[in-house]
Amino acid sequence: MTDTTPMPPRPIRFVHRGRSISVDGLSPTTTVLAWLREQQRCTGTKEGCNEGDCGACTVIVAELADGSAAQAEASVVGGLALRPVNACIRYLPTLDGRALLTVEDLAAIAGGALHPVQQALVDCHGSQCGFCTPGFAMSLAAQYERHCERGSTPGRRDLADALAGNLCRCTGYRPILDAGEHMMTLPKARLDTAPIVAALQALTSLPALHYQGPHADGSGRLQAFHAPRSADALATARAAAPAARLLAGGTDIGLWTNKQFRDLGDVLYIGDAADLKRIDRRDDILSIGAAVPLQEAWSALAAAVPALAEMFLRFAGPPVRHAGTLVGNLANGSPIGDSAPVLMALGATLQLRQGTALRSLPLEAFYLDYMKSDLRPGEWVQAVRVPLPSAGTQLRAYKLSKRYDCDISGLAAGMALALDDQGRVARIRLAFGGMAATVRRAAAAEAAALGQPWIEATARAAMAALAQDFKPLSDLRASAAYRSRAAANLLLRFWHETRPDGPLPAADASVWHGLDTGRAARTAI
Ligand code: FAD
Ligand code: FES
Ligand code: FES
Repeated sequence: MTDTTPMPPRPIRFVHRGRSISVDGLSPTTTVLAWLREQQRCTGTKEGCNEGDCGACTVIVAELADGSAAQAEASVVGGLALRPVNACIRYLPTLDGRALLTVEDLAAIAGGALHPVQQALVDCHGSQCGFCTPGFAMSLAAQYERHCERGSTPGRRDLADALAGNLCRCTGYRPILDAGEHMMTLPKARLDTAPIVAALQALTSLPALHYQGPHADGSGRLQAFHAPRSADALATARAAAPAARLLAGGTDIGLWTNKQFRDLGDVLYIGDAADLKRIDRRDDILSIGAAVPLQEAWSALAAAVPALAEMFLRFAGPPVRHAGTLVGNLANGSPIGDSAPVLMALGATLQLRQGTALRSLPLEAFYLDYMKSDLRPGEWVQAVRVPLPSAGTQLRAYKLSKRYDCDISGLAAGMALALDDQGRVARIRLAFGGMAATVRRAAAAEAAALGQPWIEATARAAMAALAQDFKPLSDLRASAAYRSRAAANLLLRFWHETRPDGPLPAADASVWHGLDTGRAARTAI
């Protein structure tokens, strides 16, 4: 039987607390958090926000290391790729073929004593009410394994980035960062990966997951969860069930069920399709598959275009980036997604698939209206192809949000510019999110700059033209007036950073400018 043949339903199989277990009879949208707390009485993992925002529910999902680009940013340790993720927005069937590590495992690792991460949190007074602590401990544990494996030590900045998805309301972050440094100095207690690897290898002989469970609404209806293992199998399944809900990382969809109680219908999961986890670079085009997590996708983009490094680190926090995908961020059609503006500025195209038919669509043509895209029934996004900027092209990505870390944008922008040898604008692409019903290019502003000398007067003409391009709305993230003014000011900032004479170093335009060593200063708190 091939992977494209519909399989009879089977239970979900994964490894938990050293045992290979089998789960049946639960709704496919049961979250890992609900299963842990309500079915297993493993209450160490906490529920705070139930929407991926606070990190109290952070657990580690381990999968067999396969050397793929889609695991490049996970902590690869003894044959396992370890990812911190939010248990509250992760559906249980997505654990199939993987191992789940929780705060209950930490004490087991240390033979019943406190794990170095826990001991360090105690020694450094890194916990007060303690509600956030299990989540911090799990994010730190992933860092601990990563650095022990490499023989390296995390700096405060690494730790601050690694903990950006964990919120603490009472302790304050300095003692927690202290604990992150201190944990590396304590006697080592490492995860014994061999038994987990063996248990996961035994699960590889199972067919692709086709699970059925009672619908969460209690109606008694059955809901299916299908996880094909290749793009071809996914395409076949999608053609057979075009109404099924495509699920990638679930970092948007998890909120639909948790907060809006939406009915997903049958679910088609992308995350097990091995060939969709690839990042290929050919002829200066990065092709990023639909199952590549945000963490790896943004890391690859930032490695190729260093100007994107800050956007990478400011996109959500690690538990969301390790679960969510870049393609999911583009496919969801959100007008405030962070990836679309800069990928539009780069001229990205989507590779769309329906059965065996493929078509390519510029990203800017994909968005038709608010949350409405050009996807046809049964069609899905197989990959995004991102042309890397040619020599002489300057690129910037800007994000304005109320918090620096782990926040949704009020406004995001991607800007690309190439000048001719007379200093005139030969090519310009300006794309904004948060300014209209969809992310889109600023046609009037681009036209105002094209062919003009790249001087302040040109930048100001383009800024004025933005008023023709956008009539933004006010909402809880930003007012219309703020958005209009900030978008124009970002354009001015772009000019300052790219002007031919004495361009402003990007660091000087940073929010951390003037604070000692710039961004690193925040980690010294
Ligand atoms: P899913 O939730 O699985 O799916 C999202 C939508 O896309 C669904 O409609 C799904 O059917 C569709 N879809 C997914 N893959 C495909 C495909 N291949 N083809 C067709 N349709 C598809 N977003 C930002 O932009 N910036 C942020 O800083 C940010 N921070 C966040 C912080 C938190 C705490 C949370 C919970 C979310 C945040 N998000 C942010 C939103 C979210 O993480 C991203 O939009 C993410 O990229 C969605 O990807 P996913 O794989 O999780 O998509
Ligand atoms: Fe807050 Fe999960 S409970 S992130
Ligand atoms: Fe209370 Fe962190 S110790 S929220």
